[in-house]
Amino acid sequence: MSHGRIPARAGVVGGGLMGAGIVHGLLVAGGEVVLLERDEAAADAARARVQRSCDKGVERGKLADAAEPMGRLTTTTDAADLSGCGLVVEAVPEDEQLKRETLGRVEAVIADDAALATNTSSISLDALATSLRRPERFLGLHFFNPVPASKLVEIVIASATDEVWRDRAVEWVRDGLGKTPVVVADSPGFASSRLGVAIGLEAIRMLESGVASAQDIDAAMALGYGHPMGPLELTDLVGLDTRLGIARYLERELGPRFAPPQLLVDLVEQGHHGRKAGRGFYDWNDDAQEKNA
Ligand code: CAA
Repeated sequence: MSHGRIPARAGVVGGGLMGAGIVHGLLVAGGEVVLLERDEAAADAARARVQRSCDKGVERGKLADAAEPMGRLTTTTDAADLSGCGLVVEAVPEDEQLKRETLGRVEAVIADDAALATNTSSISLDALATSLRRPERFLGLHFFNPVPASKLVEIVIASATDEVWRDRAVEWVRDGLGKTPVVVADSPGFASSRLGVAIGLEAIRMLESGVASAQDIDAAMALGYGHPMGPLELTDLVGLDTRLGIARYLERELGPRFAPPQLLVDLVEQGHHGRKAGRGFYDWNDDAQEKNA
């Protein structure tokens, strides 16, 4: 394996918003990518998501052509197809039990010298690693949404992660993916989610208690603090369901300041999961001329 270069064949498990973005990043890095999904319909939807992302890359002049990278993507529902991968990134929903089972299933088929990574935004890697056979090659590769436009990958180091794998991950992110790595110790919410979710939850509480409209809360942070988008719009982008999962986990681990506001719980129950669902704090339906509160 040549250092700096992403392994010639890499795998991603779960082709949702983040998984598809990670696939995009790995394809742009130049190798073969195998994407594992739970059934054929999910695999087709994931492929379509990656295709849209590559098409957008072409529109923006970042990719010469979408067909060539898409030709290096294989979608599958059989975990055994990950066997030849030198790196597998798990990107299934933010649920500890689901992630643990998924990681176990992947570890059963990959080679002993393949890296195993999770894209969890918050869950303790030590907790996820308890049933792994070779936890020394397990680490966090936490990507940010939208992956193609984001310059950061948080590399999370668990107690058992060997420094050889940490150093390789730094090189893969920097030289292979062309992003900036930050190395953080395993702790709830790492560096980025803990702070980002704290702001997001406070913004929802402010909306709930009528401090200001969603647009005005967002404008306050976007224009007053120079954030690229306000915390409610960002929650719509990330997914309200994803943020709720992270908040519940951080509440358990760090205390009641991370308790999810009722408004967030209600919107998720109603299926208003954000942009991907057409509605969150704003209306993102195609017929909406612009995002509407
Ligand atoms: N290839 C493909 N698509 C690309 C691209 C590329 N190289 N570069 C950008 N795009 C996409 C963007 O994703 C965006 O997609 P949509 O049309 O679906 O929105 C589109 O092209 C337009 O991008 P622009 O750069 O023109 O738009 P912009 O200047 O308004 O920037 C933004 C959009 C990059 C999303 C910017 O607003 C931003 O950085 N927002 C903050 C994002 C953020 O904070 N992300 C962190 C979320 S937290 C997280 O992800 C972790 C977690 O744990 C949940």
